[in-house]
Amino acid sequence: MTRAAVICGLGTWVPPRVVTNDMLAAELDTSDEWIRTRTGITRRHVVNPGVSTGHLATEAGRRALESAGVTGVDVVVVATSTPDRPCPATAPVVASRLGLSGVAAFDVAAVCTGFVYGLATAAGLIGTSVAKTALVIGADTFSTILDPGDRTTRVIFGDGAGAVVLRAGDHEEAGALRGFDLGSDGRGVDLITVPAGGSEQRGSGVTAEEADTYFHMDGPQVFARAVRHMTSSVRSVLKDVAWDAEDIDHVVPHQANVRILDACARELGVSADRVVKNVDRVGNTVAASIPLALADASADGRLEAGQRVVLTGFGGGLSWGSAALTWPGITAVGGER
Ligand code: ACO
Repeated sequence: MTRAAVICGLGTWVPPRVVTNDMLAAELDTSDEWIRTRTGITRRHVVNPGVSTGHLATEAGRRALESAGVTGVDVVVVATSTPDRPCPATAPVVASRLGLSGVAAFDVAAVCTGFVYGLATAAGLIGTSVAKTALVIGADTFSTILDPGDRTTRVIFGDGAGAVVLRAGDHEEAGALRGFDLGSDGRGVDLITVPAGGSEQRGSGVTAEEADTYFHMDGPQVFARAVRHMTSSVRSVLKDVAWDAEDIDHVVPHQANVRILDACARELGVSADRVVKNVDRVGNTVAASIPLALADASADGRLEAGQRVVLTGFGGGLSWGSAALTWPGITAVGGER
């Protein structure tokens, strides 16, 4: 039997600058009322110029190591779709800043599903004894790729980072990752996208001046698919680990939009108080959203050791994924404020 990957540390970091709905309404044709009723968001954290995804990832990673009480790991995985550069990956520089030069380090790109994909990847490395420990960081700075004049995206996204430390352990112990469900559908490539910056536009002769480097999302199309795929993915992982929906103590979904989270809860037959939400205070932080929500629920005492938790995410790709785990007896360091 392969070894289980067990969560033994959790750390987070959000940039200190807060942008409220009223601040956005002062520069865009929107309102606090529209943003709150359509998304549930009241504010978000945004980086200052000069601060990149790698900086946030390093801060969250440092706090996760502190939470686990360790100074090193065998592998660093950074889930992000706003890497510091198109090439190389952000993870090696994050590892070096954490004093971990020499360890395996690479990025996983699955947009809002990135953290779940990163967990599954690291769990696989631990399960096959390639690594005994791993640091999995979800970090994004979507503020750096949003069109400043686009009210449909500016109001939704926030910046942040969250990280967990995994170690090899037993399948039955608290903190063990019990099962995963992962999926994708590339036919939805244009629904959530940054068209330029990769080989497709460059190879087609699009000049730097013509390139569209801003993020675009077809919100209503994404809304329906997010509910459908997060719901079916949760059902798949529950089947895999032989849990029923009523066995789950907490669902921790990607924090896309409070209406999406409510719709998922209704579809799954899970009461609203068992769905962790913090999108109101941080917005959609993409790959950071699930660990930021975990830290929030851990800090306010909702997550208790041994409880059954299901993580679920949906995002660009299209991509989706869920993980079933039992919660470890750990104290998160950092936390969303
Ligand atoms: N302020 C005021 N009005 C606005 C704003 C705004 N910020 N944004 C859009 N509107 C307008 C639209 O122009 C439209 O006007 P019209 O009816 O005159 O055309 C109207 O409000 C309704 O717009 P919709 O887009 O239909 O609004 P909707 O209720 O669908 O909300 C939203 C938009 C919030 C984007 C929603 O669709 C959503 O949350 N979608 C899912 C996002 C998601 O799940 N993302 C996850 C993955 S993200 C990733 O992977 C990076």
